[in-house]
Amino acid sequence: MNIYKFPHNFLWGAASAAYQIEGAWNEDGKGESIWDRFSHTPGKISDGQTGDVACDHYHRYEEDIALMRRLGLKAYRFSVSWPRVLPLGRGRVNPQGLDFYDRLVDALCAANIEPYLTLYHWDLPQALQDEGGWTNRVTSHAFADYAALMVKRLGDRVRNWTTFNEPSVVAFNGNLFGEHAPGLQDPKTAYQAAHHLLLAHGLAARTIRAAQPDANVGIVLNLWPAEPETDSAEDASAAKAYWEKYEIHFLEPLFKGHYPLGAYEMAGENMPVVKDGDLALIAQKLDFVGINFYSRSVVNAQGRVDSVPGSEYTEMGWEVCAPAMRRLLVKINQEYKLPPIYITENGAAFADEVSADGKVHDPRRLDYLKQHFLQTRLAMQDGVDVRGYFVWSLTDNFEWAHGNTKRFGLIRMDYDTLQRTVKDSGEWYAEVIRTNQIQD
Ligand code: FCB
Repeated sequence: MNIYKFPHNFLWGAASAAYQIEGAWNEDGKGESIWDRFSHTPGKISDGQTGDVACDHYHRYEEDIALMRRLGLKAYRFSVSWPRVLPLGRGRVNPQGLDFYDRLVDALCAANIEPYLTLYHWDLPQALQDEGGWTNRVTSHAFADYAALMVKRLGDRVRNWTTFNEPSVVAFNGNLFGEHAPGLQDPKTAYQAAHHLLLAHGLAARTIRAAQPDANVGIVLNLWPAEPETDSAEDASAAKAYWEKYEIHFLEPLFKGHYPLGAYEMAGENMPVVKDGDLALIAQKLDFVGINFYSRSVVNAQGRVDSVPGSEYTEMGWEVCAPAMRRLLVKINQEYKLPPIYITENGAAFADEVSADGKVHDPRRLDYLKQHFLQTRLAMQDGVDVRGYFVWSLTDNFEWAHGNTKRFGLIRMDYDTLQRTVKDSGEWYAEVIRTNQIQD
């Protein structure tokens, strides 16, 4: 048996996102978001569910914070619903919306849990979408104003600010593949949205720093390493090309100040309008970068391989391959001058059940987490500066186009009663946090 200790100040946490947990979609003056509109459109969500109630966290946040305390979390990553605080995206402020986040942050501080606030986890105000959404440059400026509002209200207690969660999913799943809100399938829109998301990040980072000089500002990227199916030279070059086409569209402008060649190849005539000064703003120095890691893409000369013989797959159809996480961290650490890294999401959906003893025995999730913690620890030994880890997710929640069918939580959600039950993986995680180590 081996014991792997983590540094004494390693920040163990869990993550969530407003639309996936809050519910109260039209209460207390909240405006409509693109996810409200999308989930209310028949046929868009696989089980016909919406986030109207979700985990009802808006009303039950105190219970959820009590559960975080029970697990011993040191940090909690959550997002603010933009239309809850600015119902139309700009202009009129909704004081009740701001009050909610004020209470939430106060309760976290009282529980000694460090808030990690994400400004945008996909729920754009519908009113801004109606004016072109992320294809409209004005939206980037509206985002910076929204950031300023939040810093003014919470900056005395929140130090860690994330501008965007997974901008590539926002741009491409929402505007090219159409499987996420706003459900468009238009390359020109998608590439322009991608650029305006980066611009909004740059504008907001500058605004946050000006208003709160001791703030830590970062962004969260989802990265799936592309790995060759075999040792052949063909597969190696196919994997390299795949990575450069699909995975670095945001990494390169953020950390090198330019779009990669692969972006020009992919977008062709749909490359976005980039104005003078945009890239400098986008590439400004950050205090941290968040990496969301779930799985990898296995690639050969024909493209992406659907299924790798012998591999385990989660309910999302994602391959379980923890060593790929270490390889990814080492690779990006070598290729980019990165600020300190947080693993801002990692976790797995499995079809767990409540057993006769009333408990949720989820050994596969527990093992998934253990393997990924271990590989992260090994990457740290390789010299990667990882400061903390947020498990996705605190509770089962509304998994976007999959509705309530995919369960990622350390805590089970009974969607009929909204009862929360800590799973075995949650109890195990509490022990990891308490001892600050894992054993294999
Ligand atoms: C990520 C999202 C998060 C959750 C997980 C499973 O892409 O950021 O909200 O849906 O996937």
